[in-house]
Amino acid sequence: MSVDHSQAPVLEALAEYHATGRLSFSPPGHKQARGADPRVREVLGDAVFLGDVLASGGLDDRRTRSRVLERAESLMADAVRASHTFFSTCGSSLSVKAAMLAVAGPHEKLLIGRDAHKSVVSGLILSGIEPVWVDPRWDADLHLAHPPSAEDFEETFRAHPDARGALVTSPTPYGSCADLRAIADVCHRRGRPLVVDEAWGAHLPFHDALPSWAMDAGADVCVTSIHKVGSGLEQGSVFHLRGDLIDPTVLRSRADLLGTTSPSVLIYAGLDGWRRQMVQHGRDLLTRALDLAARVRTAIESIGGVHVHDRADFCGPGLADDFDPLPVVIDVSGLGTTGYQAADWLRAHRDIDVHLSDHRRINTQLTHADDQETADALVEALRALSSAAPGLRRARRVEVPAPSELRMRQTCLPRDACFGDVEDVEAGQAVGRVAAEMLTPYPPGIPVVLPGELITAPVIRYLRTGIAAGMNIPDAADTELRTVRVVA
Ligand SMILES: Cc1ncc(COP(=O)(O)O)c(C=O)c1O
Repeated sequence: MSVDHSQAPVLEALAEYHATGRLSFSPPGHKQARGADPRVREVLGDAVFLGDVLASGGLDDRRTRSRVLERAESLMADAVRASHTFFSTCGSSLSVKAAMLAVAGPHEKLLIGRDAHKSVVSGLILSGIEPVWVDPRWDADLHLAHPPSAEDFEETFRAHPDARGALVTSPTPYGSCADLRAIADVCHRRGRPLVVDEAWGAHLPFHDALPSWAMDAGADVCVTSIHKVGSGLEQGSVFHLRGDLIDPTVLRSRADLLGTTSPSVLIYAGLDGWRRQMVQHGRDLLTRALDLAARVRTAIESIGGVHVHDRADFCGPGLADDFDPLPVVIDVSGLGTTGYQAADWLRAHRDIDVHLSDHRRINTQLTHADDQETADALVEALRALSSAAPGLRRARRVEVPAPSELRMRQTCLPRDACFGDVEDVEAGQAVGRVAAEMLTPYPPGIPVVLPGELITAPVIRYLRTGIAAGMNIPDAADTELRTVRVVA
């Protein structure tokens, strides 16, 4: 039966809510902006408050008999070729935890690519799941991690046949991708599910020139932030399910453990509208975005001192299997500067914000929302950066360890290291101790150190020299890393 994707149940219910002039004697207390401070209304506009209604007992009735959310989720599932879709208003940080908890429980093993986002590590800490880390594919020259290969998962499964399933991050925040089909096959040969953290892949279902989409590649659950690459509002995330290895009721109830009882209808509306936009116009919008990305990449590559990472840099034997061209990852080390300095300079001097920055790169994320005007502004700003670079403060050297030195031994469950007795010791004294906290350069949010890992000298040197150069580690107890929190 063909599905009518011109519908947008959340947006339609919201329009009807306004048309009927519904009066609420329930939260939210601003009551359709009437109670909001005029100075707040002036900045936010009333639309924000008008769209902010109670999901059940407001947008829908108290027993959700109009199935507003259910219909929106089911349309989304159809659009992305999943059997079930769940909306989350708490970001993929919630979605990925819900997926993990649907696969494994306390003291059960889960294979996880070590380049996982910090929300995955939070999931381990809260659940007591035992991680079996799968090393990413390191590019030692570019200092970059690509997702693990199917062979890496195969080998790790062989050593841990009792693992309940696997989790891989693809695309990475740098846009490099795994062979999801092959990893799903590795899992399914054992009757185990594959969870894909596809937070950066909201656009993938809607264009065949983009890397493969987890639901098409046979993954069991995938998690996507619609706010990252899509048009959703911040915190808008969805997770999708297919196959019969995970019970949809279990998945929903795991999300319920973590979620809010006051979901934002504004965020639901953003998710619903994105699905309709993509089904109706996604191919055209993404074709335009891909063409623009190709032109922007060529223009930036011609600027002195910078290099745009392309497929040839990211993909090949021992590297990634595929690559998304929309994150335009630019190596600025040829300018004698760091990604941190470059990002700060672009914000201060050109009012341009980039996505992530590291010791040698920035990532300027393009989406379907960009056009020639925004692209020209970016290219012009990068030209100006290139000219200004000789006058920038000399970049501090970040001592990036060799891949073998970056990986530390997991000595106990992340949960046990986090909730046991802890103490703060001087960074130098932390070497040889077991970490009790995450130390995560942000963005992109991949912990360098996580609870339970045995801390080594090269890693401390990396983080300390990183901070001196401009790295941001907001989750550390001491964000300057003079001290590190370790197991007492
Ligand atoms: C790979 C990955 N997974 C999950 C998340 C969490 O997503 P959210 O910010 O939507 O909570 C992020 C956020 O940056 C991420 O990069």
